[in-house]
Amino acid sequence: MTGLFITLEGPEGAGKSTNREYLAERLRAAGIEVVLTREPGGTPLAERIRDVLLAPVDEVMNPDTELLLVFAARAQHLAEVIRPALARGAVVLCDRFTDSTYAYQGGGRGLSLERIAILETFVQGDLRPDLTLIFDLPVEVGLARASARGRLDRFELEGRAFFDAVRTAFLERAKADPARYVLVDAAQPLAQVQQSLDALLPRLLELTRG
Ligand SMILES: Nc1ncnc2c1ncn2[C@@H]1O[C@H](COP(=O)(O)OP(=O)(O)OP(=O)(O)O)[C@@H](O)[C@H]1O
Ligand SMILES: [Mg+2]
Repeated sequence: MTGLFITLEGPEGAGKSTNREYLAERLRAAGIEVVLTREPGGTPLAERIRDVLLAPVDEVMNPDTELLLVFAARAQHLAEVIRPALARGAVVLCDRFTDSTYAYQGGGRGLSLERIAILETFVQGDLRPDLTLIFDLPVEVGLARASARGRLDRFELEGRAFFDAVRTAFLERAKADPARYVLVDAAQPLAQVQQSLDALLPRLLELTRG
């Protein structure tokens, strides 16, 4: 039995963390085992790597260091959480995954997409999400929501150009593979975002039936 791997993607403040709970509840109500997790992180060790990635420090983190840390955390997360859950047939709902690497380290930092793709295959083999929801919204709306939440992390301290590049990268990935990606208009009020998720539910349930 193989489960279903669903990822939630998009920039800061888009509502990924808010809506993953909502989606998990809807799937559980349909009797499905849902494993809710996030990146970077998802295991105690990977969460320690997350802390290193997010904490603002005086030393500039080399972009390659950042990229390798992201994939180091991902290797741990895949081995300890994602692959075992998929193997027993669960739905894995993951808040950020490799699309964020393409968007932040590729789009934002300007690292070559080919090098990211090499690491993607090195760490994941042929495992890719079955479905990816991209929560899309204007950069300033997301940043306003994120800053209202409190202290900014190392990424949230970046400038406007960085976030424009992140958004563009997410949108390009969605456009390149419409079968895998669903764009969610995350600028709408929460109730409407959740209505769009409800509308997706029949498709998700269909996918869980294989
Ligand atoms: N549709 C919405 N309308 C207004 N506010 C929202 C909406 N969705 C989420 N929020 C609020 O915006 C803030 C950021 O939401 P959330 O933490 O879910 O975003 P996120 O995508 O997980 O961000 P990050 O990438 O930084 O973790 C929260 O305070 C949340 O309550
Ligand atoms: Mg979040």
